[in-house]
Amino acid sequence: MLLTMSGCVIQKILLLALFAVDTAQASSWTQLTPSGTAPSSRHAFGMVWSQGYDSVYIFGGRENDGVGRLNDLYRYSSSANNWTLLSPGGSPPTGRSSFGIASDDANDLFYVFGGEGVTVGSDLHQYNIAGNSWTQPTSSGSTPSLRRGHGMVWSHSDDSIYIFGGYYSSSWTLMNDLYRYDTSASHWTTLNPGGSLPTGRGFLAMASCNSSLYVFGGHGSSIPLSDFYRYDILANDWTELSPTGSQPSRRYGHSMACREMDISLYVFGGHDGGPQEMLNDFYRYDVVANEWTMLSAAGSAAAASARRGERGVREAAEC
Ligand SMILES: *[C@@H]1O[C@H](CO)[C@@H](O)[C@H](O)[C@H]1NC(C)=O
Ligand SMILES: *[C@@H]1O[C@H](CO)[C@@H](O)[C@H](O)[C@H]1NC(C)=O
Repeated sequence: MLLTMSGCVIQKILLLALFAVDTAQASSWTQLTPSGTAPSSRHAFGMVWSQGYDSVYIFGGRENDGVGRLNDLYRYSSSANNWTLLSPGGSPPTGRSSFGIASDDANDLFYVFGGEGVTVGSDLHQYNIAGNSWTQPTSSGSTPSLRRGHGMVWSHSDDSIYIFGGYYSSSWTLMNDLYRYDTSASHWTTLNPGGSLPTGRGFLAMASCNSSLYVFGGHGSSIPLSDFYRYDILANDWTELSPTGSQPSRRYGHSMACREMDISLYVFGGHDGGPQEMLNDFYRYDVVANEWTMLSAAGSAAAASARRGERGVREAAEC
């Protein structure tokens, strides 16, 4: 079955290469050649951008032998164009892949929740960038169940982390539940949103943009999906969007990031459900115009090779 491809028996190895897209110029990709110690080859890892530190952090994932799960942490500094292998203090999360990760730019923290290889519940971890250390915050409320392949984002509008869907524990049971973690109160709330809820899915893409959360695609019960939803934080409801323009095809394991500067979402790559078909196409969704634009078609991107499980779109959130 197809799903096992993204779970325990991934044999495809993706080399880690770093690309940046300059959206101010006419959407061109540049392959970067940083100095320092680059992360080893891996997939299903976490990647976040910190606005305050103008840096990208890469954590954990699956080693290229397909077995080992990592918990190492690297920083890529945009200004220095270098990689640094960090040696954080505190208690790092155990090795894991297909977990949730989100950067809290108001407090220069990032959070990791759940993932494959995790067997205990309430598995929330916090990394403090200035202190270079990991802690497990003591939280109250209703913690999300153990999961992997879920969506996790931080919203600057209410300084909260949101977790959506994924696969329950180590099963293939799909979920579409939504949780909020209030970072100042360290409190979890199970949300009961109205509107048109996305169906259960895993390896979806989720991003936070202008007080709303967006979910595009993911793997459903049998096939990859191409549906698109907005969750309005203030109204606590979901809307299925029907944008105009050329929208991305069905996919899972893709990346999506918001660029607040032009209130747009960018979607890159993923897997379309065929045995080999990894995508490298690139799209922009304009929130105000409710319109998709294809920036480059699959196979035609000059530099970026097809990949999935990457978190490759640099988030330029000017919050
Ligand atoms: C990367 O550059 C920063 C800023 O210049 C420097 O502090 C850091 O030591 C560098 N890291 C490595 C591994 O060279
Ligand atoms: C951005 O969010 C604000 C607050 O919810 C809203 O008033 C505004 O209409 C939103 N802008 C767009 C383009 O959706």
